[in-house]
Amino acid sequence: MKHTDIIEVFRNKEHIGQSVTVCGWVRTARNSKNVAFIELNDGTSLKHLQIVIDKALDIDYEDALHLGTSLKVVGTVVEGRQGAPEINAAEITVIGTCPADYPLQKKRHTLEFLRTMPHLRGRTNTFNAVLRVRSVLAEAIHKYYQDRGYVYINTPLITASDCEGAGEMFQVTTVGYAPDCKSEEDYYAADFFGKRAGLSVSGQLEGETAALALGKIYTFGPSFRAENSNTPKHLAEFWHVEPEIAFAELPDVMEVAEEMVKYVIGTVLDKCPDEMEFFDKHFENGLVERLRELISHEFGVVTYTEAIELLKKSGEDFQYPVEWGCDLQTEHERYIAEKVFKKAVFVTDYPKEIKSFYMKQNPDGKTVAAVDLLVPGVGEIIGGSEREADYDKLLAAMNERGMNLEPYADYLDLRKYGSVPHGGFGLGFERLVMYVTGISNIRDVILYPRTVGNIR
Ligand code: 4AD
Repeated sequence: MKHTDIIEVFRNKEHIGQSVTVCGWVRTARNSKNVAFIELNDGTSLKHLQIVIDKALDIDYEDALHLGTSLKVVGTVVEGRQGAPEINAAEITVIGTCPADYPLQKKRHTLEFLRTMPHLRGRTNTFNAVLRVRSVLAEAIHKYYQDRGYVYINTPLITASDCEGAGEMFQVTTVGYAPDCKSEEDYYAADFFGKRAGLSVSGQLEGETAALALGKIYTFGPSFRAENSNTPKHLAEFWHVEPEIAFAELPDVMEVAEEMVKYVIGTVLDKCPDEMEFFDKHFENGLVERLRELISHEFGVVTYTEAIELLKKSGEDFQYPVEWGCDLQTEHERYIAEKVFKKAVFVTDYPKEIKSFYMKQNPDGKTVAAVDLLVPGVGEIIGGSEREADYDKLLAAMNERGMNLEPYADYLDLRKYGSVPHGGFGLGFERLVMYVTGISNIRDVILYPRTVGNIR
């Protein structure tokens, strides 16, 4: 269907005085004595385009005034009263009618209400802005890595090893439950892959293989977590950005994380001014200023041990008690980022017991070279580490955890054949989108959220 995108009509002053054809859905309609007005949106722009219908003209407009109706409009672009272009309609065609039970009637609905209609919520201003910012962030991530010589790798989604060693994988099976199997091994032997398989929680282990061949790689794909975390920041299926860098130690990894986060946020501020103004107005006052501050200051750095001391001294009444060795909860992470540092902060060198087997063991024998990036408002958005590059130490850590070594034979091989210091991190893409938009529930930054008990 030949037509002009509404964003083009707004952007390009040359359309003024010209006849154009635009398409879109009716967002609001007003019918007065001599004229009728329609605000049309085709999704290309956050702003709606006003269509003015002069009732003296022979235009069949009655059916075009219902919210949600899709239209094709031919008319002349004129400069409207507030200086924004609008269209004096010459011809209106209803493409698809929309009955009065169309759920998006009011101007603003709650995010909770919109969650009940993932198929329609994309037509609201909020989701228009969220989905566009998501897209611009994704492009910026690719550009950051591509411009710096990283190779984009696609790691498998179906895997036989559980990267975090934590056993929270969704199972992949064509057999299903088979009570007549004698043992677990029998059961999996009859399955599609001949062994237990699941959806990958992270592309890291395969990413390491690629980094130890290509030097610098990144992945950008879905990861799956079967943990029963029904919180505003956990999805069962989320998008994961995982760079992996050879010949790199923990400070190198942190440098990349900081530079990348600043680069992608800077890109969104440049490319999406209307969307960012919208979030600032409706979701978090001062958001744009906060992001500008973030990209113009160095991120804080604190060790886990220092963070625990800060939390203990805080005098805050935390729901989860703080002791050296405990996992940091969101309330702790937010206290450190929001109250102590008032900016993004890296927490490094966690106790080895609460981190994964693959992390480089520090000389103190108690901690590992891990790093999390905490940001105000969200908490952790990045988790990463330097990897254990020493064969014997890695093997010992796996044995200490009682891991089945068989699925990790290749991974161990990498430490046998020309091992090098290397590291990387995982950025939760939706957590980044939450941080950039000021939207506080992860279900509202992805079109179809998958969470415990929800797969609409
Ligand atoms: O800290 P995580 O579990 O680290 C890893 O998966 C490493 N293998 C990454 C690496 O070093 N390559 O996850 C990394 C990030 C978290 O910081 C968080 O932002 C996000 O992934 N994340 C989730 N996002 C949404 N829903 C979930 N259930 C998430 N779990 C982790």
